[in-house]
Amino acid sequence: MIDTQPFQLGLFGANADGGLAVTTVPERWRAAWPDLLALARLADGAGLDFFLPLARWKGFGGTTNARHHSFETLTMAAALATATERMTLFATVHAPFVHPVQAAKAIATIDHASGGRAGLNIVCGWNAPEFAMFGMERTDQPYALGHEWYEVFSRILAGEGPFDFDGAYYKLRGVEGAPLSLQRPRPTVLSAAFSPAGRDFAARTSDHIFTTFVEIADAAATIADVKARGEAVGRPLGVFTACHVVCRASQDEAEEYYDRIAVREADKGAVEHYMAMKQATSGSHDPSAYTLHAKRFAAGAGTYPLVGTPEHIAAELVRIHQAGFGGTAISFVNYLDELPGFINGVLPLLADAGIRQ
Ligand SMILES: Cc1cc2nc3c(=O)[nH]c(=O)nc-3n(C[C@H](O)[C@H](O)[C@H](O)COP(=O)(O)O)c2cc1C
Repeated sequence: MIDTQPFQLGLFGANADGGLAVTTVPERWRAAWPDLLALARLADGAGLDFFLPLARWKGFGGTTNARHHSFETLTMAAALATATERMTLFATVHAPFVHPVQAAKAIATIDHASGGRAGLNIVCGWNAPEFAMFGMERTDQPYALGHEWYEVFSRILAGEGPFDFDGAYYKLRGVEGAPLSLQRPRPTVLSAAFSPAGRDFAARTSDHIFTTFVEIADAAATIADVKARGEAVGRPLGVFTACHVVCRASQDEAEEYYDRIAVREADKGAVEHYMAMKQATSGSHDPSAYTLHAKRFAAGAGTYPLVGTPEHIAAELVRIHQAGFGGTAISFVNYLDELPGFINGVLPLLADAGIRQ
């Protein structure tokens, strides 16, 4: 599956308007289907390893209502299965909103349609208005449901059944599913979180945690903590992260554009709403991230900025790899306009550095 490169690279968030950015610049990503399809084919042909969507049900307000438009991720992965050939197609699934019996069948379907390239990114939900859309209330123990969800999901794909399940959240009778996934015992599983509870959830369920960091120098401690939690339950746990990219021929040009998207023309109302909601209900970032790095929320949902020349960006990615991350998902203000510059400028430098074949 995706562990074929020393350092994995994929695209994050291209299924939603704005991608990871919350900016008003007119060239911002609109996630129109023809553009998304062209992007998936471009990334696949260039050898990127995975395509990872975000799961969103409501916009963030402000002038752009960023993320109001987003494609549902299971159906999107199925649609991209026959349009791509190599990369892993993740679906990002909210455990509280999608029944595990449904998810197991959907993931198995994507796995067959793609020739064994399905992946699952489990999220347990932080956005209270989204819970309200589903007639639910967010609890402060979101992973309790997640554990049960994963057990049902993984047992179906492992070929168990019919089985009964008696949990606090699911009471199920005669559970079974076919076809099973082509990947055995199940497709690759990621889970996205930062908090200690989220790390423990990943350790018990996932192949890789997908998490954030503020400074590269501090990331090694996060990674050591995550890996220790995996080892404590006897499972090796990989660690992936997410970065947003502005790659230009000169450092000045890249920084000037970054200032424009993230400060002068940021969608300030939406950024404030997003940061306030996220801070209230999620531990998904170190608290300093909100105060020190509001720009990062405008340009990339709080992920790490890769802003500069191809040489600068490649050097930063090598440092991220050296810190212990197994890979990163990346985003752009306009994926289709900017990915070619990354492919031509940065990928060869990563090969020279020995972190990509
Ligand atoms: C890199 C990353 C990506 C995430 N992607 C999504 C997403 O697409 N949809 C979503 O609702 N939550 C997403 N989350 C939020 C997490 O799933 C989780 O709800 C949040 O981090 C709060 O949990 P925590 O306090 O355990 O970190 C993401 C989190 C991280 C760190």
